[in-house]
Parts: sequence; C-alpha cells; structure tokens
Amino acid sequence: MSSTPSGMVDARQRARALDQSDALASTRGEFNIPTGAQIASSRLSDPGPASAESESGQGRDETAECVYLCGNSLGLQPKRTPARIGQFLATWAAHGVQGHFKPLNDSPLPSWVDVDARAAELVAPIVGAAKSEVAVMQTLTANLHLLMSAFYHPDINGRHKIILESRAFPSDHFAVETQLRHHGLTPETSMVTIQSPFSEDNVLSSYDIMSVISTHAASTALILLPGIQYYTGQLLDIPVITAFAHKHGIFVIWDLAHAVGNVPLSLHDWDVDAAAWCSYKYLNGGPGCIGGLFVHERNSLVTKAVTDDKPEEGYSNRLAGWWGNDKRTRFAMANKFHPVGGAAGFQLSNPSVLDITSLTASLEVFALAGGVPALRKKSLALTAFLESLLLGAMSADHRTLFRIITPSDPEQRGAQLSLLLPPGMLETVMKELEARSVIVDERKPDVIRVAPAPLYNTFSDCVEFVEAFSTALEAAKGAKAG
Ligand SMILES: Cc1ncc(COP(=O)(O)O)c(C=O)c1O
Repeated sequence: MSSTPSGMVDARQRARALDQSDALASTRGEFNIPTGAQIASSRLSDPGPASAESESGQGRDETAECVYLCGNSLGLQPKRTPARIGQFLATWAAHGVQGHFKPLNDSPLPSWVDVDARAAELVAPIVGAAKSEVAVMQTLTANLHLLMSAFYHPDINGRHKIILESRAFPSDHFAVETQLRHHGLTPETSMVTIQSPFSEDNVLSSYDIMSVISTHAASTALILLPGIQYYTGQLLDIPVITAFAHKHGIFVIWDLAHAVGNVPLSLHDWDVDAAAWCSYKYLNGGPGCIGGLFVHERNSLVTKAVTDDKPEEGYSNRLAGWWGNDKRTRFAMANKFHPVGGAAGFQLSNPSVLDITSLTASLEVFALAGGVPALRKKSLALTAFLESLLLGAMSADHRTLFRIITPSDPEQRGAQLSLLLPPGMLETVMKELEARSVIVDERKPDVIRVAPAPLYNTFSDCVEFVEAFSTALEAAKGAKAG
C-alpha cells in the first residue's frame, strides 16, 4: 500500500472541519448506510462484528460505514422507508380493500386512492412545477414512450425527425428507434444524432446542439435530450435549448434521470414541454421504484366537457387508461374516456401503493433538508472538494492515470464526476475500491462515476475515496504492467 501523501493529511483535516460546520450533516442519520462488512458479505443477514478486519488486509474497520458514492445509480435507503412501508402493510392487513378509500386518523399515509396526488405534491417543488403538471407513474422508459405517443405525430412530408444525442442512454435510443418504426419510419430517414465536433468525450456545448437543431429545423418534430448526461455527468442548459427549439416550432422532451433531486429544476418557468424521470437515483425511492413525468400545463388542457360534441378534440391525443380519467367519473365505469386536466390525465393504471409509499418516505427527507436549493449548495461544495482532491492532493504520478471528463464549470454539472481511466484498468480499479469498502459505479468501457450525494455523503467520504482511488490506480498500473 502506498503511503499517505501529506496533501491527504491536510485534506482529512479540512474535511473534518467542513463536516463539522455542515448545516445538512444531520440528514445522513436519516439513511441506512451499509457497513464495510455488509458490502463484503454475500449473506442477507447482518455479518456482525465477527469480520471486523477486512479479508484483504486493508486495515479498514469493516464495522464502519462504507464510503457510498453511488447515489447517481441507486440512492441509499432512508430509515423512514421500512417504517412507512410497514404502515402501508399494516393498513392492508387490517383494512383490506377499505384501504383504498378509508382515511385512518392515526396514519401518516393517505388512503390509497390519493397516494399519487400526494406524491405529485411532494415531487412538484423538486422539479419546479405546479402539482397539476406532475404525475408519479410508471417507469422512465415507459413514460418516455407515453410522452412520445402523445406528442410525436410525424409527417413524412413535413416534420418527422427526432433529434437525440449520439451517446444517449441505450434505453432512450431504443425508445426513439422503436417509436420511429412504430410509425412506419426508419432511423435512416428520421433519426438525427448529435455529436460534438470538438470534444473527444462528447461533452456537448449548447452551440453543438443548436446547430444540429438549425440544420434539421424544418423536418424535426421532436427532440429528446438528457438534463444530465449519464456518462459524462454534463448538465445541459435546459432553458436555453428549450427556447431555441421552440423558436423552430419543435417539441422537446427531457430525460431527467440524473437531474431530478440533484440540481435545481424550474420546469414550468423554463417553459419545458414535457419531461420524465426515475426515482431510484438521487430520489432514493428504491430499485425500480415508480417514476414520474411533467407535462406543461399548456400541453395538458382539457377544454371540452364529456357531454360536448367530440369531447376527444378537447385534449391532446394520448394512450389512455382508467387512472387518467377524470376522478369524478373514474369509478362510473362508462366507456367514455375523459381525462383529468394536467399530467395526471396521462396516467394509465392504478399505481403501486408499495412503490409510492417507498418514494414518499424519501421525499419527506427532501422536505426536512429544505429542498433542492439547500441540497445544491452543499452539493456544489462537496463536488468541488472532491475535484480539488483529485486534481490537487493526489500524487502527480496517479494524476496522469485518469482524466475528469465532467465539465469543470459547476453550472454544467450536478453531483457526479466521471473519471476516465486508461484502457484495461477499470476492472482492477473497481475491485480494489470495493476491497476498501468504497462503492462507486462503472460505465464501460473506461469510466467510473463518483457522486457525493448531499443528503448523506460527507467531505470525509471524498477524502476516503481519493485515498482508496490512489491505491487502486497503483494496483491497476501494476496489474497492467504484469
Ligand atoms: C439517462 C437514463 N435514461 C433512461 C434510463 C432507464 O430507466 P428505466 O429502467 O427506469 O426505464 C436510465 C436508467 O438508469 C438512465 O440513466
């Protein structure tokens, strides 16, 4: 193991001081943070203190909490989550079907028929929307398809193209490609991908994006872009790109998987058309938890009454289900779809109460923390601290072994830094980090993503990561040479 450079000793002291003065320090206590022993164990039951020293002999106390910097992939479990799920299960056990409608005086949970509305109320401030513009429903890719089914109406002789980035998350790429085929079109004629002509890492400037939009403006129907790009961690300029697309009469859908709960969003004020997100990353809803979507109020109007002539002309086209129907007539069982105004009118099925209960438990913690603006303040400091350690406190030798590909401008990134390694080192680096109870994630071929989440990460976590990373790089260099 390499000795600790003096820069790291200073860094530890600075981190301790920053942690002590952190106004959000207490929210860490709201989370279950796995111990090193738990991370190392392949048993469900708690491995307990027996394995107190790491097998790999790294000298780290394995009963200590691990260094979890992976909120960009799966957020940690809030302690409230099992408690709230327990209350939901108790409601089901004791009240059966009555749980749908019967309010329980001593329960913090709404009756099930209202869980989606309650969740929308909690998510709305996180995305900067009116609560009627948000629906908590389905999952991210499904919601992208639903939004495209509502707002992508191609005309092969006019506007038919969809623009997306060349390195879009595969699910988004598949969604676009299959939407085109679903409409009898092909990617060759109707899919345009944006690639940066200047950046080898494909960090896209607004100029890169806008020049592609300009080139294809007359034939483009839709743009699908990420708020934060999953690989590079780049935060795009959502309001500027949206306004530019609107100038050309193009509808834009934003994939906010990596932006929601991470950076401040003002979807309504930015005049965003529509957006979708998942809730298992920075929102800490749990693996595969229910997602959400935003539809700007101007795109979800219901202007005719169900008794009017041709009521279906009074709302935007969409694929429908009974949960999107006007609540007042939802249970009347008449086969006459008439959506509730707003994003809720895009719902299909009655939502999983188990999922929503898990999500809203976590959203309680967001409210406790003072919402995204307070979290962003800490997040900017945490990520800048991590960056300063990577660039300043590591040995010059180790610094040559990786490159931060996330933009250095804090306005162009969220919590995550993506570190590009030389080919062939990823596997060893990940193994060595894990052996030191450090959890980050990898995106092949050569990137590790490191995301200090302000709800539960500390400045000391950043120092521990950088120390472990130095050792992991040394090991990977040795393994490669050998
Ligand atoms: C940017 C982005 N888009 C889409 C998805 C797919 O999400 P889901 O599996 O919830 O549909 C992910 C998943 O991580 C993602 O990161």
